[in-house]
Amino acid sequence: MEVVIAPVDALAGLAADAIETLVRARPEAVLGLATGSSPLAVYDELVRRHTEQGLSFARARAFTLDEYVGLAADHPQRYRNVIARELTDRIDLDPARVAGPDGSAADLPAACAAYEQAISAAGGIDLQILGIGTDGHIAFNEPGSSLASRTRVKTLTMQTRQDNARFFDDDPSAVPNHCVTQGIGTILAASHLVLLATGRAKAEAVHQLVEGPVSAMWPATALQLHPHVSVLVDDAAAGRLQLADHFRQTWAAKPAWQGL
Ligand code: GLP
Repeated sequence: MEVVIAPVDALAGLAADAIETLVRARPEAVLGLATGSSPLAVYDELVRRHTEQGLSFARARAFTLDEYVGLAADHPQRYRNVIARELTDRIDLDPARVAGPDGSAADLPAACAAYEQAISAAGGIDLQILGIGTDGHIAFNEPGSSLASRTRVKTLTMQTRQDNARFFDDDPSAVPNHCVTQGIGTILAASHLVLLATGRAKAEAVHQLVEGPVSAMWPATALQLHPHVSVLVDDAAAGRLQLADHFRQTWAAKPAWQGL
């Protein structure tokens, strides 16, 4: 696990560099996209590189992490719509090449199994962007989630509904109770995981993710079991890291050509 502590713009640039390197080397790359505010600066940077430098995603594919259950197809907070607005409609990625778990399927378990199958059929995810919840969730894998889980229906915690109420007119009761989400086992199957976290509210979750014992109580700690994880955090989110000085020294000494 590599931890980079830097200002938000620099973090976004690093994540965008990793995606650009991948897509230039393998135009048909499979990207894993996350919603939430943490990846927004990365998406803006990718759009800038697409618009100003011709970075193309035309042959790439993308899978999103999770989706609320029961939101209308045109609901602005439906993650499928969020990711279109924030990234995929702003670059040359055909909407038909973007998939997400189906939160409005009549048979949700079948839709979850089909989603796993679609990721496998695409050859798996090359690079997965992740955020982290204040309670240590990744995608919508809340505390108590199986560390081997695959895409399935989950119940959101009240903490997450409160955290996400800002997208629902500050009304936690308007945030759906249920979601469909890639499992932790699904996420761990991606080749490279790039997690972004900023702000003091994430400091405890980041500390647990990097330095805590692997535990379903802090689902993101499962990332310690993955061989290629980049944790990109600002000073505030790094505020509780005991190894912060070591991570700063390590990054400062790393040759720039190596990338993430
Ligand atoms: C939601 C998403 C997660 C995301 C988390 C953190 O719950 N399902 O994928 O990581 O929020 O969001 P933010 O980056 O806005 O703090």
